[in-house]
Amino acid sequence: MTQPDLILRNASFPDGRTAQDVAVLDGKIIAVQPSLPASAPEEIDCQGYLLSPPFVDPHFHMDATLSYGLPRVNESGTLLEGIALWGELKPLLTADALIERALTYCDWAVAKGLLAIRSHVDTSDASLLAVDALLEVKKQVAPYIDLQLVAFPQDGVLRSKGGVENLKRALDKGVDVVGGIPHFERTMAEGAASVKLLCEIAAERGKLVDMHCDESDDPLSRHIETLAFEAQRLGLQGRVNGSHCTSMHSMDNYYVSKLLPLIAESGVSVIANPLINITLQGRHDTYPKRRGMTRVPELMAAGVNVAFGHDCVMDPWYGMGSGDMLEVAHMGLHVAQMTSQKGIRQCFDAVTVNAAKVMHLEGYGIAQGCDASFVLLQARDAVEAIRLRANRLKVWKNGKLLAETPEVVARLRVDGRPGETGFCLPGSSK
Ligand code: FE2
Repeated sequence: MTQPDLILRNASFPDGRTAQDVAVLDGKIIAVQPSLPASAPEEIDCQGYLLSPPFVDPHFHMDATLSYGLPRVNESGTLLEGIALWGELKPLLTADALIERALTYCDWAVAKGLLAIRSHVDTSDASLLAVDALLEVKKQVAPYIDLQLVAFPQDGVLRSKGGVENLKRALDKGVDVVGGIPHFERTMAEGAASVKLLCEIAAERGKLVDMHCDESDDPLSRHIETLAFEAQRLGLQGRVNGSHCTSMHSMDNYYVSKLLPLIAESGVSVIANPLINITLQGRHDTYPKRRGMTRVPELMAAGVNVAFGHDCVMDPWYGMGSGDMLEVAHMGLHVAQMTSQKGIRQCFDAVTVNAAKVMHLEGYGIAQGCDASFVLLQARDAVEAIRLRANRLKVWKNGKLLAETPEVVARLRVDGRPGETGFCLPGSSK
């Protein structure tokens, strides 16, 4: 075996494997096994820590991020005021400011071990200013973040003047994925027509599809059914994603029992956005108040690939967030009541491997031949990582160290019991 550049020793992986050595050469993983009989100029002991592939955010809005308070804050905190506020902000946007905010967010993301992001970019404005700005950001961050862009007609591709033309122009410029927002079109029929049209555009151009689909509490908002049908009709299985799908929370159970197999058969993946769904949905309810998040464990049990997205960080819709996908997973498991050991691990997968599958990322994972991109977490396993929203000790992209955070240890000053704690159970190795 050729001498590696780097060996990470005694690591635990999110899939449950422990005491694994990982050898890296020229940015790729060349071996994964216990007690690797080799040496490298740099070796790191990962005993007691979790080595994960990088976090992946499959649903974000980078054109709006970090604009909190511009030109004013969202006083009600509702989706509709957020959309209105975005409409106020858009005429004030400049490419330079948008690029600066996006690059700042990408720095935050790297520090949190988040190295792949699918961002929607609003194509409603004929100037396509946000599209050009995020294509520039994509170019600049390429060495350290896989940024995938979705042409997103926020105002409705049929509802807004020039919507189809603007979306096609964005795709011509190099935007990767076809987006949509059928529940925001004027009627159910127009919504369904938009799904059909957009899927046909994607099929013609060989693009992936990711639509905001049924982001509503209306149990009769059923555009996910049309999306799954069109995916099958056009041979787009495995290439289509429905984002949000919150209406499924409120749908009739018999209808859902028919819908879930259709989604699974069509190979359509689903992205829930727990932080945003739990805050924006159910706002017309008194009590009981619906959670609004889609049926995550049921979709997973039906064989659908389900991932979690952050959606928003400090923008017109959401004033919180820091690019921490463990916070997203933490909220997801609470909202979906996925507190079984299996459920918690599935929530970790929802912000790593499942999200990577949605984005069709190549070279993702910890196996021979994959990219040497990892995050080393101050946690022993995936359950502890979510519980602690664990510290990111080190973040690598293609074998290059991008970020480090010192180990978090509280030094105690308790009378008679001085000591320190890393917040793990007694008897753990760290
Ligand atoms: Fe979104």
